[in-house]
Amino acid sequence: MEANDREILHVKDLHVQATSDEGFSTLVQDINFGIKKGKILGLVGESGSGKTVTSMSILQLHDKKNIDIRGSITLKGRELNGLENKEMRKIRGKDIAYIMQNPMNAFTPVFTIGHQFIETIKSHTSLNKKQAKELAIGMMESVNLPEPQKLLKSYSFQLSGGMLQRVMIAIAACLQPSVIIADEPTTALDLHSQLLVLRLLDKIRTEYGTSILLISHDLGVISEMADDVIVMQHGRIIETANVLELFETPQHEYTKKLLRTRPTLYSQRQPYTYML
Ligand SMILES: Nc1ncnc2c1ncn2[C@@H]1O[C@H](COP(=O)(O)OP(=O)(O)O)[C@@H](O)[C@H]1O
Ligand SMILES: [Mg+2]
Repeated sequence: MEANDREILHVKDLHVQATSDEGFSTLVQDINFGIKKGKILGLVGESGSGKTVTSMSILQLHDKKNIDIRGSITLKGRELNGLENKEMRKIRGKDIAYIMQNPMNAFTPVFTIGHQFIETIKSHTSLNKKQAKELAIGMMESVNLPEPQKLLKSYSFQLSGGMLQRVMIAIAACLQPSVIIADEPTTALDLHSQLLVLRLLDKIRTEYGTSILLISHDLGVISEMADDVIVMQHGRIIETANVLELFETPQHEYTKKLLRTRPTLYSQRQPYTYML
């Protein structure tokens, strides 16, 4: 994919190396892709193929002491690779939101959900506490989270994983980021919650034009959601295609194998609302 004006996020020649006492090891190499406004790019590949290393590189979350990131990562034309931590902190959450696999890790058990929700909004906007709370409740209502007032007063350990993941996405959506990186957002969830979370991500993309990098080892999820797909194996991209092309005419043997082993539940693209 070539860089063009409509690409919100562009990754060019990304090469990530880890250093240890034994020397260097390459974690990912020759990674090139772009995501256009309002599109969902699926990133698929088996465990250990480099999906999380790639997303953490975009967010500049690797430990600089032992991980070396080469190449270019641009957000609306601005280079992120090598940005100082202080600058990157402003971008994380506000411009690029990160939704991780286990939502429990994203919350501190000692504070209420509301406290964390409101603090996140306050730290990235000029809203005061009351305004931030209004925004939080409004967003929770718009994503059909039940009883927002009560949810804000609860603690993370009182909620299910599915509920927490939806709260996490609602927090992310409040700041209307240009990009959401969702790294296996449904892997830890039961089927019903998976569908709710996917529907929520799709709603945010439609309403705010958010571009989404959706990472999954599950081709069913990718087939439901993505516009384009990249397939990773052993730290490299081995195939890039439009989602329909990928499912109809996979080129690479590994992709064919993934397609053969995918769960049958999602075997055809259909509106997932139908399955709720
Ligand atoms: N900080 C690190 N230091 C050394 N190796 C790492 C580090 N992070 C990940 N790796 C290795 O990089 C490879 C890709 O990992 P990862 O991106 O987490 O895979 P996945 O596709 O399952 O998300 C794995 O072999 C993993 O062990
Ligand atoms: Mg991973």
